[in-house]
Amino acid sequence: MKVAIVGATGLVGNVMLQILEERNFPVTELLLVASERSVGKKIAYNGVDHEVISLPSAIEKRPDIALFSAGGNTSLEWAPKFAEVGTTVIDNSSAWRMDHSKKLVVPEINADQLTKNDKIIANPNCSTIQMVMALAPLHKKYKIKRIVVSTYQSVSGTGIKAVEQLENEITGKKGDMAYPYPIHKNAIPHCDIFEENGYTKEEMKLVNETQKILDDRTIAVTATAVRIPTAGGHSEAINVEFENDFNLDEIKRILNETDGVTVQDKLDENLYPMPMYANGKDDVFIGRIRRDGSQPNSLNLWVVSDNLRKGAATNTIQIAEYLIKNALV
Ligand SMILES: NC(=O)c1ccc[n+]([C@@H]2O[C@H](COP(=O)([O-])OP(=O)(O)OC[C@H]3O[C@@H](n4cnc5c(N)ncnc54)[C@H](OP(=O)(O)O)[C@@H]3O)[C@@H](O)[C@H]2O)c1
Repeated sequence: MKVAIVGATGLVGNVMLQILEERNFPVTELLLVASERSVGKKIAYNGVDHEVISLPSAIEKRPDIALFSAGGNTSLEWAPKFAEVGTTVIDNSSAWRMDHSKKLVVPEINADQLTKNDKIIANPNCSTIQMVMALAPLHKKYKIKRIVVSTYQSVSGTGIKAVEQLENEITGKKGDMAYPYPIHKNAIPHCDIFEENGYTKEEMKLVNETQKILDDRTIAVTATAVRIPTAGGHSEAINVEFENDFNLDEIKRILNETDGVTVQDKLDENLYPMPMYANGKDDVFIGRIRRDGSQPNSLNLWVVSDNLRKGAATNTIQIAEYLIKNALV
């Protein structure tokens, strides 16, 4: 495969490169693409330096697959141009996720919808991916009525500038701010921009993308998204109400048997998921699994995952692997 990574100098792009190497992805030619500012920079892949090129130069080379993680505006403008020359684009930005003509894919849940005609495929938001990975198998069995989710999101979810802000604040250096407030020793209830309804865009992604991926617009979702000073790995406290009653042992068994999920729930050993340990891993970790005694058929979960891996790069590359395996590209 001739593969382009658009946003190769960014946090997600960098992890994509690592994962392509780790998984021995069948790359015959690699095109590393970023903004004009980065053209000519060198990035190593499999021990060989590659020069960063511009978007127009990459299109000229007509890659088979382009993995985009360069922000919504870049995707809106450039993904259709790549699609036009026959490239299949898998896009990490929010540009195409809610477009009715585009599929929003978490491979373990809904990759079977993909066809050869899907030339722009959307990768969901990081906080959505880890939530639906935990809830999709439970929805199948018990049917979800309502989800209340609060997130504790790492600074790497915002990009390089935010990681630098936290590092600068820890070491006492002056520098650019990615957030309107210090993030070190703080919690900021403001992820992405505010919308007219008083929610942030990140919170509304959790609502809309969950309904689209689980293919059920009747699921009620309400979210509060909070940025905390962790470097990698998002955490979520999820309260879910089902139509049907459940048995806790069965919930644990279903989650244990779900591909891409690891249950960490042994209270006598203080075993529960934490971002420090989920960081660098591909699975979604689930713990603190307990019945919500305050209302019928309700469950509480604590879900942690590496936002740059399963929340972004891993999921994107799994989509690409699915396309190759099923001869859809
Ligand atoms: N971080 C996460 O956890 C996460 C999770 C899911 C999805 N995403 C999405 O993935 C995308 C990238 O996120 P990130 O965290 O990797 O951000 P980042 O670290 O800030 O990197 C941004 C990348 O986009 C490139 N870029 C910016 N403007 C461009 C332009 N006009 N043309 C071409 N390339 C351009 C940058 O290139 P230069 O270095 O040349 O500026 C850089 O490679 C965003 O859309 C984000 O919403 C991020």
